[in-house]
Amino acid sequence: PTLDPFVDELPIPATIDTSNGSQIILGAYKITQKLHRDLPATTLYAYGTSQETATVPGPTLVATRNHTSHIRYENHIPDSETFLITDRTIHWANPPNGGVPLVTHLHGAEAPSSSDGNPDAWYTAAGDHGAAFVTQNYIYPNSQPASLFWYHDHTVGITRNNVLAGLAGLYILRSPSEEPADLPNSTNEIPLVIQDKQFWPNGSINFPDVGDSPSIHPNWCPEYFGDTILVNGKAWPYLQVYPEKYRFRMLNAANARFFTLSLSDPTLKFIQIGTDGGFLPNPLVLSALTLAPAYRADVIIDFSNMTVGTTVYMNNSAPAPFPDGNSDFSPPSTNSVMAFNIVSRPPGSSTPAFAVPSNITPVPNPTYNPTTDGYRNLTLIELDDASGNPIGAFLNNLSWTDPVTETPKLGTVKVWDLINFTPDAHPIHIHLINFLMLYQQSFNQTAYEANQCTLLKQFPDPSSCFTQPPQEPDVTQVGWKDTVIVYPSVVTRLWTKWSPRNGGTFPFDPTTAPGYAWHCHIVDHEDNDMMRPLAVQK
Ligand code: C2O
Ligand code: CU
Repeated sequence: PTLDPFVDELPIPATIDTSNGSQIILGAYKITQKLHRDLPATTLYAYGTSQETATVPGPTLVATRNHTSHIRYENHIPDSETFLITDRTIHWANPPNGGVPLVTHLHGAEAPSSSDGNPDAWYTAAGDHGAAFVTQNYIYPNSQPASLFWYHDHTVGITRNNVLAGLAGLYILRSPSEEPADLPNSTNEIPLVIQDKQFWPNGSINFPDVGDSPSIHPNWCPEYFGDTILVNGKAWPYLQVYPEKYRFRMLNAANARFFTLSLSDPTLKFIQIGTDGGFLPNPLVLSALTLAPAYRADVIIDFSNMTVGTTVYMNNSAPAPFPDGNSDFSPPSTNSVMAFNIVSRPPGSSTPAFAVPSNITPVPNPTYNPTTDGYRNLTLIELDDASGNPIGAFLNNLSWTDPVTETPKLGTVKVWDLINFTPDAHPIHIHLINFLMLYQQSFNQTAYEANQCTLLKQFPDPSSCFTQPPQEPDVTQVGWKDTVIVYPSVVTRLWTKWSPRNGGTFPFDPTTAPGYAWHCHIVDHEDNDMMRPLAVQK
């Protein structure tokens, strides 16, 4: 359906303070919700404290540093199977008595593995559960620096279905002593959860049910792209803003779409003060802000010089797939995201003194000793059928169910070289830790595959496949990250340290079963089968 943009006001999800230590019960429910003025209500799965209050995105959970949050996740989905088709030829939960298996991961959190939402720790409404299931009562110690996490479904083989169906929400970890003075707050601090979907005229989600290589995977499609951009669960909403500074807590929660955001008034910039792992050392002033799936950005936009009565548009120019797009997946409707209508403050209320901080939180210079620290090289590959259609994507040519190979020792440093042999960029996410990107470096893949050169020799050695010296992280990859864009024909080198961001020891035992995961956050890839187990050892 063709829908008019900017006719619905941006919804703000309800917030739930989890910091007083009492258990919050968050259920998953089947609901209908209006996602646009002219679209009939859409059937969705949604998180909430009750059927009546469940929304897409779910409520924003708010936590305080060093105060443990206790969340009990419940599955109240009444369906005998997910309403977005399951491809039974890929690994999946396959619950013995039917139902929709669910398990929730808090993305970005240092959590005990029994509370981490292991893909095999799913459970159904009927009480069946997967092999890695330990409990539905999760604890989050919140001992990390202030940052923006998000919670979402992580069930093996159907994460893409459950996230697209609506099972995602924000989690703000606050740390009052770390916050720079005078950041825009209260109604000037706005969460933006950006996603894409495609609809049938009756409002239901159009989820393609025929795979690209149907004789191998009848239903799995390598990337889900929709033609409708939603923010906080409304298609192309508008937000009324006063001519002052606002802080936006942004998340790309799309299945596969990257966003490169810009503002229609070129005098306005994104002043990025934080990333996945919290504050940056200094603000980045950007005309374009690229968010891969699962990326978060903490951004100030200063509307102070905007004229009341005007509108500023937030646009998107990222190709889909990223970075070499196919125009079929980027119809013009995907170039718009939302609008900001500039309105005046009600008379009598005064503009608060908000400030853009500088020198916020230093990020250490990662140090690495090649003789004593560990090193892993890890490939990203895609498997095609005889006609060149993707039938799966893999890490190191292994599946989720193959034995664990990433077993870093607690407290050690490891360098991970992610070597991307596929034609697309993949947002690679590691559970449990934040990491720093050391560098990225392009190589000649054709020559490499023809055995004409090696990745074991450095540029400019004549036998090296590298085509350039190592490059500094670009602006999408700086600071503490839990997800990073790994470009095609590039080696992306990460510095990983298997201890808490804080230093010291984890306030829980990270070495016990069921263990963690690392994977591509294009969830369609994660499901088939770009995900590997991760076990930390003592
Ligand atoms: Cu956001 Cu393993 O996921
Ligand atoms: Cu991928």
